[in-house]
Amino acid sequence: MIHNSYLDNRCPTMSNTLQSVIAQTLPFEDQKPGTSGLRKKVRVFMQKNYTENFIQCIFDALGDKLKGSTLVVGGDGRYFSKPAINTIIRIASANEVSKLIIGQLGILSTPAVSALIREHKVLGGIVLTASHNPGGIRNDFGIKYNIENGGPAPDNITNSIYELSTKITQYKTTPTLETDRLIDILGTSKFNVDGRQFTVEIIDSTTNYVNLMKQIFDFNKLRALIRGTDQRPAFNVLLDSMNGVTGVYVRNIFVEELGASPDNNVRRVVPLDNFGEIHPDPNLTYAKDLVDKLKEDSNYDFGAAFDGDGDRNMILGKNAFFVTPSDSLAVLANNLECIPYFKKNGVNGFARSMPTAAAVDRVAAKLGKEIFEVPTGWKYFGNLMDAGRLSLCGEESFGTGSDHIREKDGIWAVLAWLSVIEHKQMGVEEILKEHWTLYGRNYFTRYDYEECETEGANKMINRLEGFIADGGLVGKAYTALGKTYKVAKADNFSYVDPIDNSVAKNQGIRILFEDGSRLIYRLSGTGSSGATIRVYIECYEKEDVLTDAQVMLKPLVEIGLEISQLKEFTGRNQPTVIT
Ligand code: G6P
Ligand code: ZN
Repeated sequence: MIHNSYLDNRCPTMSNTLQSVIAQTLPFEDQKPGTSGLRKKVRVFMQKNYTENFIQCIFDALGDKLKGSTLVVGGDGRYFSKPAINTIIRIASANEVSKLIIGQLGILSTPAVSALIREHKVLGGIVLTASHNPGGIRNDFGIKYNIENGGPAPDNITNSIYELSTKITQYKTTPTLETDRLIDILGTSKFNVDGRQFTVEIIDSTTNYVNLMKQIFDFNKLRALIRGTDQRPAFNVLLDSMNGVTGVYVRNIFVEELGASPDNNVRRVVPLDNFGEIHPDPNLTYAKDLVDKLKEDSNYDFGAAFDGDGDRNMILGKNAFFVTPSDSLAVLANNLECIPYFKKNGVNGFARSMPTAAAVDRVAAKLGKEIFEVPTGWKYFGNLMDAGRLSLCGEESFGTGSDHIREKDGIWAVLAWLSVIEHKQMGVEEILKEHWTLYGRNYFTRYDYEECETEGANKMINRLEGFIADGGLVGKAYTALGKTYKVAKADNFSYVDPIDNSVAKNQGIRILFEDGSRLIYRLSGTGSSGATIRVYIECYEKEDVLTDAQVMLKPLVEIGLEISQLKEFTGRNQPTVIT
């Protein structure tokens, strides 16, 4: 019997042939992926066939390429990850996938998945995460497909997944494939499904990613910074994993490799499936705990936090001096030469998402580099990186990354910042002040109104779109708190990808003022219920660079509320989050 050669190495007695079956199902109407995959409440994913349908649609969207392919699977370990992975294993086996590479216990940060797809040159990966959204049985789960370059699937793939999800009538699965504890133990298991070999390899969650970081950064220098030397005291960091997936990477890289103290330099480094009931989003509101720690204890020189799946980061200096993500990007762009990876590979262009403040544009102009402005969503950077036009990019939503992978990367961002600090021998605040003195300052803030009623939010956006259509805003002057701003241009941002000419329309309403200030309105694409309105506010000052950002931007905020009539449409007097 040919099948006897395929022994399951966990349990040699399980070497018999398994049969896949076709299960009947009905479509769900709400499986449209958002900015970054499908995100819903856990209970939605728990509905009979809900997860099965979506996985089958991902596979169907991949077409013939799926047969004989290898995929990477893992996520931030949030509640429902294990049953979802078991479902993926069974459906993949029946759909002629040849191999799954899965992080032990289902744990892989989003950047680690991207790195693994690239390292093993496989077809793609499935990431189980709702990123920075809360987890646990009452909260969110998510499924995202990443393509062979390691980045999130582009719109044409997510659109086709959605199309298929509206018509699906059946899925293929292997119900007898025993998944119990399969992902808990390192090693390779081989199954025989319908006469084909199907392999599940459970890998260590950190090894590949840690090796990649060692190739990019100078770990000796970083260790000297964190531990201190005979000449210099230790640079005292506090890294907060917010009970998310980065805990395992932080312990491995910062504690074991770079000599940080497990007691004083890291916190919340054990991943929990409900993130300890916190909102694992590294910003001033949800990471307030870290902010307070740094304010209370001025022995800390540096703080950083990560989100649930490890792609976001927030950077703080001594006394919780806050670095906006837009400034963080600009500072890194200005100092890349101190990182071995860029010394070796050179620096191509820079990019930011449209709502991100334009500080990096000034660095690009000075250094003579290309700069790209793309819609919100990391997927829009991938083509530029693949074409060798883009080395470093970032978003105001606390994402920073480079072309080492095709996802934003929280740990990478912190290692990059520490490399700059080590190179310049300056603290965070000093570095920012030097930067602003050189380039001027792009003041930026974002107001989020979370989970508003969809109807009011849509009406507000429709009204703004009406203004754009009739050109009514252009030329109008608005005054608040003694400052006057005149509208130079208003549009709904549209992007043509310079590599494949694909077009993304309606990516955010922009009101651009004559002095370069901007007001931007967008509906979030990552929420799981209701509508989240984001208002982005930016102005530029060449000389006045040390005023508090909230003070500087107050007049524009008022004008933004007046033009949109946000309070009237939503009934909200205050934003949920200000960053
Ligand atoms: C995810 C994406 C980012 C995006 C962010 C905000 O984190 O990976 O690229 O900037 O969501 O999206 P939203 O649609 O909620 O503003
Ligand atoms: Zn994330």
